[in-house]
Amino acid sequence: MYILGMESSCDETSAAVIEMGEGVRRIKSDIVASQIDIHRLYGGVVPEIASRAHIEAISKITHEALDTAGITLADVGAVAVTTHPGLIGALLVGVNFAKSLAFANNIPLISVNHIHGHIAAAYLTDTTLEPPFLSLVVSGGHTSFYLVNDYTDIAEIGGTRDDAAGEAFDKIGRVIGMPYPGGAALDKLAYEGDKSKYRLPSPALIGDNLDFSFSGLKTAALNIINSANQKGEEIDRASISASYTHTIVRGIVKKTSLALDKNADVKTFVLAGGVAANSHIRAALDELCKSRGIKFIVPDRSLCGDNGAMIAAAGYYEYLRGQRSDTSLNARATDY
Ligand code: KG4
Ligand code: ZN
Repeated sequence: MYILGMESSCDETSAAVIEMGEGVRRIKSDIVASQIDIHRLYGGVVPEIASRAHIEAISKITHEALDTAGITLADVGAVAVTTHPGLIGALLVGVNFAKSLAFANNIPLISVNHIHGHIAAAYLTDTTLEPPFLSLVVSGGHTSFYLVNDYTDIAEIGGTRDDAAGEAFDKIGRVIGMPYPGGAALDKLAYEGDKSKYRLPSPALIGDNLDFSFSGLKTAALNIINSANQKGEEIDRASISASYTHTIVRGIVKKTSLALDKNADVKTFVLAGGVAANSHIRAALDELCKSRGIKFIVPDRSLCGDNGAMIAAAGYYEYLRGQRSDTSLNARATDY
């Protein structure tokens, strides 16, 4: 069957068509209208501007997704839409559009958790992947471990107590003069620096837990940069990027190792979310999994950031479980 997936939780408006069925997981189209150039002017996402940009883009990209897939609404078996978590005004655009489309055309409407969508991107990358597995979602708003017991049975077993990894990358990127969002730029710059030049506190919380805290690390890096600025010294941007990235990678590897220890029956590990595009994190977790005989899966970079195909994939499994939403469907900012 064909599923139309719609995503508008932050600064990308996306619509996608995927084909799912017995032994079939295929992306037919995945159209993403990014607002990054608009928000770059402000150094971060401006919620009100995001909502307006979603309104302008959503109808056009939905048509584009259907046309590229070579189908019409009559062929769509379900409309899946991100309902939470995210920016409320931004989410409402996608939810109301999907609702109208579904009810006007008599198509089942499915509500999707954005984080479950990030995890579901892995089903489109490895078409043989099946639960159970362990997953780490690293994005602009989340850094959490999940036990994926079944396609729609997903339990959070640890996560950040404050900032997310993506936020932490973007903040330091901004203060060293990188264009928003700084994550991808820091990824590249880190190769040119000395990773042991600056000592920074680990984001892995001490103790037998699967939790992170990125705020101390972020503040420590900011202090180094600010004090250099105050003294009129030039900060070594490449080395602060390398040290910062190295500290994040080590923290993530440490907690992933512990998560695998605690769930010894799990044989597959899935890395997902926008920050999963980071080459240092991908390489380190690949190595960790190899050394432990665990299968490592990370979505193609195009499926790591927010996109409609991942929402459609999560929506398909919700559909199979029997989830059907009605006209009372609403968006919410929170995870729960
Ligand atoms: O999942 P996502 O597209 O949106 C949210 O759900 O939050 O993640 C966006 C985040 C941004 O913070 C961005 O800087 C980060 O992903 N990101 C990266 C890289 N590419 C994107 N962070 C580190 N390295 C990258 N290569
Ligand atoms: Zn996301």
